[in-house]
Amino acid sequence: MTHNFDREINRRNTNSYKWDQSEKLFGSSDIVPLWVADMDFEGPPAVKAALEKRASLGVYGYTIKSEDYYKAITSWFQRRHHWTIQPEWISDSPGIVTSLSLAVDLFSEPGSQVILQSPVYYPFYDVIKDNGRVVAKNPLLLQNGRYEMDYAHLEELMQGGAKLLLLCNPHNPGGRVWTREDLERLGELILKHGVTVISDEIHCDMTFEGHPYTPFASLSKEIANLTVTLLAPSKTFNMPSLHASFAVSSNPEFKRTFDKRLKTLSLHMTNFFVPCAVEAAFNEGDAWLDELIPYIYGNMEYASNYLSEHLPEVKPMRPEGTYLLWIDCRGLGLDVKQLKALMFEQAKVAFSEGSVFGTEAQGYLRINLACTRRTLQDALEKFCRAAAAVRQGQV
Ligand SMILES: Cc1ncc(COP(=O)(O)O)c(C=O)c1O
Repeated sequence: MTHNFDREINRRNTNSYKWDQSEKLFGSSDIVPLWVADMDFEGPPAVKAALEKRASLGVYGYTIKSEDYYKAITSWFQRRHHWTIQPEWISDSPGIVTSLSLAVDLFSEPGSQVILQSPVYYPFYDVIKDNGRVVAKNPLLLQNGRYEMDYAHLEELMQGGAKLLLLCNPHNPGGRVWTREDLERLGELILKHGVTVISDEIHCDMTFEGHPYTPFASLSKEIANLTVTLLAPSKTFNMPSLHASFAVSSNPEFKRTFDKRLKTLSLHMTNFFVPCAVEAAFNEGDAWLDELIPYIYGNMEYASNYLSEHLPEVKPMRPEGTYLLWIDCRGLGLDVKQLKALMFEQAKVAFSEGSVFGTEAQGYLRINLACTRRTLQDALEKFCRAAAAVRQGQV
């Protein structure tokens, strides 16, 4: 082990979205925050070194991306995921949600239906509704403790006129890493009905053994032709605030349309720090990531075991990837308001509350596992103790 993921880094008073908003969001500053999806760990040493060197230049002028930048991306996907991306398929974007929103605007008609599979990362709803489209929900089916796609209902939505689908692969919040077979069945439907897919694959690098990630666009040329894949090094290497992200499409028409809008909004210019950080991450981040994944897996096992021992009413869904643990707390018999009070007032922890991911996820919570084992232990102890007190009617 070269990297010490147990090292505590005090993120309070660092303008941290996660650590410095507890008073404002949850009414108390002494909250253990395990909600928004960034990690409490330092990223790969090569990224820090590249950023320090870059900062030391002192002249923060307009910046370009060189061939090395695109090479770093394409070699990563080839090396880690056996997916061949051509540099000319890549469009730069400041963020995945920005790209999702642009894609909804560009690749669907106002007032039309856009499919998502709930429960899902909540900005999926916003980018549909805020662009004046209609959410066409395909709720995931809970089968043998994990989510499956409802293909029959998907086809009904497509027959009903939905021509755009937002896919989350791997899936947040359930931690499903869709299998090749899952995606092939989806692929058959999109080909049959001529549906465009915007596939958010931001969590692709964080998958556990036995659950390989399959890029949706890698299934066939025909499927790739109907797909825009949204990717970023931000989750993998813990650099979301650098705003480095990119969209990949082998369909030249999609790419042209997307690039044109990015340019119109002047979103095509890059940040001074992005190229060097992205190159360092993709060229030199393998070893760090290979040590991080078992640490997260260990946190997942620790949390699952702790909950089944101390709070058996709560059922964790076993994730196949991502650093998110989705827990079914319906056994506690609390409504949304009571669950929030349990977290924020009684336990002093902040997990993400489930209903924001979809109405069917009321009674669920999502725990961000990308923290030190000690922080996780602290949060779980507090949560389970407070829940036990609520159960015994002491609160
Ligand atoms: C599925 C998914 N997409 C997108 C994002 C955010 O991406 P960005 O910060 O690049 O907009 C997240 C962050 O949690 C996520 O889980």
